[in-house]
Amino acid sequence: MAAAPLQLNALQGVEAAKRAAAYAAVDNHVKPEHQIIGIGSGSTVPYVVERIVQQGPKVNTNRWFVPTGFQSKELIVKNGLKLGDVDSFPEIDVTIDGADDVDSNLNAIKGGGACQLREKVLAEAAKTFIIVADFRKNGEILGQGWKQGVPIEVAEFAWSKVQRQLVKLGSTNAALRMGKAKAGPVVTDNGNFVIDAQFDEKFMKQPDELLKTIKLLTGVIEVGLFTNMCQAAYFGNEDGTITAKEIGGKVQK
Ligand code: 5RP
Repeated sequence: MAAAPLQLNALQGVEAAKRAAAYAAVDNHVKPEHQIIGIGSGSTVPYVVERIVQQGPKVNTNRWFVPTGFQSKELIVKNGLKLGDVDSFPEIDVTIDGADDVDSNLNAIKGGGACQLREKVLAEAAKTFIIVADFRKNGEILGQGWKQGVPIEVAEFAWSKVQRQLVKLGSTNAALRMGKAKAGPVVTDNGNFVIDAQFDEKFMKQPDELLKTIKLLTGVIEVGLFTNMCQAAYFGNEDGTITAKEIGGKVQK
């Protein structure tokens, strides 16, 4: 994978890092023959779309873009790209998405933007799932960098029962996610609530086990633990270089 520093114009620091990661991921994984592209959520993903648009109208008129939520749907439409959905395209060539935290095995915590359900559907539907993030997300064990906990999408009427069960399972803090004005809970694009549940290192070292346990709780719709799904992750650094990690492959700093 290419690790060449990019021209970052006026962008600096974390923004420059996000853009460098996004550009490298697109350059390495979005090829002219790819016609169905999954577009994730968050503040890094606009740079993914920016780079895809730079590939030119000739290649993009033959493509369909599937969003993980309202934000990416808007991005696709505003950039004049063709909007698709999973009904029409249950198999996606490549999905590129952000992450809140990534461990050394490329397991990730996702759902900081409450999009975890659709994000996981698009990750699973994709032949290749790629993560793009800035250097702060590049960790060893999940939860070391992201302190907010694991986002868990729950049916609205079940949240309080699930919250109690999460605490019984060993969560040190399981809180219903509230909107910015704290006037009410965050409601996902699917009409559900989100519980952010913190677990200590003992649990986070085995994210697949934790995922399976939480998923069995009735009322849980999806868990923001993405285990064994990501083929490669690109972390942008402040100086514009990339740290690229690949499952079963090379690591470039
Ligand atoms: C939304 C997500 C985002 O991909 C995640 O929060 C990362 O966002 P950013 O690129 O802004 O750091 O999972 O549900």
